[in-house]
Amino acid sequence: MTFERPRGTNDWGPEDMAKRRFVESAFVRTAEGFGFREIQTPIFEPLELFTAKSGPGVVDELYAFKDKGGRDLALRPEFTASILRFYVGELRSLPKPIKVYCYGPAFRYEEPQKGRYREFGQLDAEIIGGAALPSDAEALALAIGTMRAIGLKQIRARIGHLGMLRAFLPFGPADQARVLHALDKKNFEMLDDELQRLGKPELAEPLKRLVALHGDAGVLQEAKDLLGGKGAEAFAYLGQIGDELAHYGIPPAEYEFDMGVVRGLDYYTGLVFELDSPNLGAEKQVGGGGAYVLAEVFGGEPVAQTGFALGVDRLVLSAEAEGRFGPTPGVDAYIVPIGDAMRARAVEILTTLRAAGLRADIDLVGRGPSKNLDYANATRARYAVLVGERELKGEKVGLRDLKTGEQREVPLGLLAEEIRKA
Ligand code: HAM
Repeated sequence: MTFERPRGTNDWGPEDMAKRRFVESAFVRTAEGFGFREIQTPIFEPLELFTAKSGPGVVDELYAFKDKGGRDLALRPEFTASILRFYVGELRSLPKPIKVYCYGPAFRYEEPQKGRYREFGQLDAEIIGGAALPSDAEALALAIGTMRAIGLKQIRARIGHLGMLRAFLPFGPADQARVLHALDKKNFEMLDDELQRLGKPELAEPLKRLVALHGDAGVLQEAKDLLGGKGAEAFAYLGQIGDELAHYGIPPAEYEFDMGVVRGLDYYTGLVFELDSPNLGAEKQVGGGGAYVLAEVFGGEPVAQTGFALGVDRLVLSAEAEGRFGPTPGVDAYIVPIGDAMRARAVEILTTLRAAGLRADIDLVGRGPSKNLDYANATRARYAVLVGERELKGEKVGLRDLKTGEQREVPLGLLAEEIRKA
């Protein structure tokens, strides 16, 4: 019997995992540095949690199933709904603002291609209960800060505001959601159909022109003129966000205002943003977020909520495209017994090095010294520790630098220290 993995999923080998862990740890480090705390929520949730407010884009892509008890469940397509469920149920007694992050796999039934999978990794951060402006700026700064911590040079945030679009669309929430969905997909045929159905075909032209506007603060005035005075607060807010970002050391070169940022999820209400790695081509959007309303939908009191998610898979691809990764290093020390009789002492030395916090390994196959050295080189070990009878009599071992080929004798008591020096 042979099996293939399900379409849209991946097996990640050691080199892949090193890159994914690097990206995740850059996020964890940056988020902790910003005062965020880690939480964890389940990988599957009640189906309704995601159908309540995520919008047609996400609902169509859910992995939904019934469990043996007949409950309707779904694999999480994202973290935000779970975190807000957790907040309303338990976290709301914590001092505000609540700043939390988590990361792990999410699932969407999408058409797979490079950078778009059915199982993918997300890094998510949320701020609940702060004032809107500083919270939105903090979320954006963490998203950009994470990309910087990964070492990415090409960072482009596109910042918009749903307030102006919502003010411009004279429809109830469900119809607004359908029009916004068409705009998010830039599907103008769908947009024309929806506006026709709603009896407002004349809105199509200004809307298409609006979502095409992007650039520096100058586009805010253009957009304002186009909307004839509607959504004035949203424009003022975007201007203020630019000022906030400047204090965070985020220059205008790293972002633009983009009236076309609509977002694929239904719960956004205010500032919205997307983050691009321009080097990635089609799936260049590495992250997205903004201010939203979910706590109320889940039975909580109104409170400001903002956050973002970055895609692990795309961040890895982007860092690869920028040449960020070299080959991953092997162990610090590979122990090579010279002759079978030395094996027992070699394992003791191995154990001492491991206890000293070094990464150390030894042959499990029964190879001779020269094959062992081949293996140590092939797996990019930093040093080989040669355990020979003659040297051991003087409480010494041979330490070979596998980069330079240079070899010297080192007293056993100093071995860990010598290896650590590198
Ligand atoms: P999203 O824009 O749907 O936002 O997803 C965020 C990021 O997850 C995307 O920019 C992308 O990098 C990654 N992503 C999404 N789908 C896939 C996929 N099929 N394959 C690979 N990567 C993917 C959210 O999920 C919101 N919950 C963000 C948020 C948090 N808003 C407020 N708080």
